[in-house]
Amino acid sequence: MKSLIIGANGQLGRDLLRASGDQEVIQFGGRAELDVTSVLAVNQAMQELKPDVVFNTAARCDVDACESDVLSAFDVNANGVLNVARACESNRVRLVHISTDYVFSGSKGSPYFEDDPADPINVYGTSKLAGERFALSYCSNALVIRTSGLYGAAGSREKGGNFVETMVRLSGERSELRGVNDQTLSPTYTRDLAEICLSLADSDAVGIQHVVNSGHCTWAEWAREIFQLLGRDVRLEEVSLEEFGPIAPRPRFTALESKNSRKPLPNWRDALRRYLVEKQYLDS
Ligand SMILES: NC(=O)c1ccc[n+]([C@@H]2O[C@H](COP(=O)([O-])OP(=O)(O)OC[C@H]3O[C@@H](n4cnc5c(N)ncnc54)[C@H](OP(=O)(O)O)[C@@H]3O)[C@@H](O)[C@H]2O)c1
Repeated sequence: MKSLIIGANGQLGRDLLRASGDQEVIQFGGRAELDVTSVLAVNQAMQELKPDVVFNTAARCDVDACESDVLSAFDVNANGVLNVARACESNRVRLVHISTDYVFSGSKGSPYFEDDPADPINVYGTSKLAGERFALSYCSNALVIRTSGLYGAAGSREKGGNFVETMVRLSGERSELRGVNDQTLSPTYTRDLAEICLSLADSDAVGIQHVVNSGHCTWAEWAREIFQLLGRDVRLEEVSLEEFGPIAPRPRFTALESKNSRKPLPNWRDALRRYLVEKQYLDS
């Protein structure tokens, strides 16, 4: 299988590369190498390279930045996906496109399944939902993988790190921190996600599939688990999302579960421990 990874400099992109081992892979690190917003560049790349499968991880995923830069969010997260989906269709290429738990409002109050109606409440989620619809409407061999709370060794390219890295750093600098206790998600290790992306790419699955480390927690519980594993003595003040004051509205409960997956991924606590070992914050 000849793969093309778009967004290979990102945290998921890097782990897709690593998980591909000695398979044939072409990578475009970021917009400097292949800008998904350029129809011309995307068509040219697809025609010249003729991959069997495209992994599209490219996105604007800073939720607050998307809220104030709507055009750019839609340009990459929606129009960019349309360009990739059309190019895949005309070259008979399989598309594995990555989406998000933020396509949901969180009002369900329990884990979301693939067939729950999407109802985003911020620009990021709305632009990603538009991207999903473009992928599925314009490419007949497309699989949309929704995931949540990503962290991986490379760190998020756009956010310049990830939540675990921020907690590791801050817990070494301060004795008191704040954690949001009324927003729940399914933290997911990109190393685990990448392996499933590859095996799903090699299957005949189409449509939408949720892929996350199993279980869920609030940001405060996630932070506590990090401090406990690292043996850091930090007092965590639990605050509400409203007190924390993000720019963009956030969905309160976006844990994901799957009706389609055959085997659940390891629990988020197990994944977190393995990440801390990979980053050498913990001995194995
Ligand atoms: N991070 C999360 O917590 C989270 C949660 C749920 C779902 N997701 C989804 O998972 C996917 C991967 O996220 P991630 O955390 O790995 O993101 P990331 O680390 O920020 O990587 C995104 C990649 O996209 C590239 N990119 C941005 N704009 C581009 C453009 N116009 N053309 C081509 N490439 C472009 C970036 O490279 P340059 O900056 O060099 O252009 C980077 O390599 C995204 O689709 C995201 O929406 C993320």
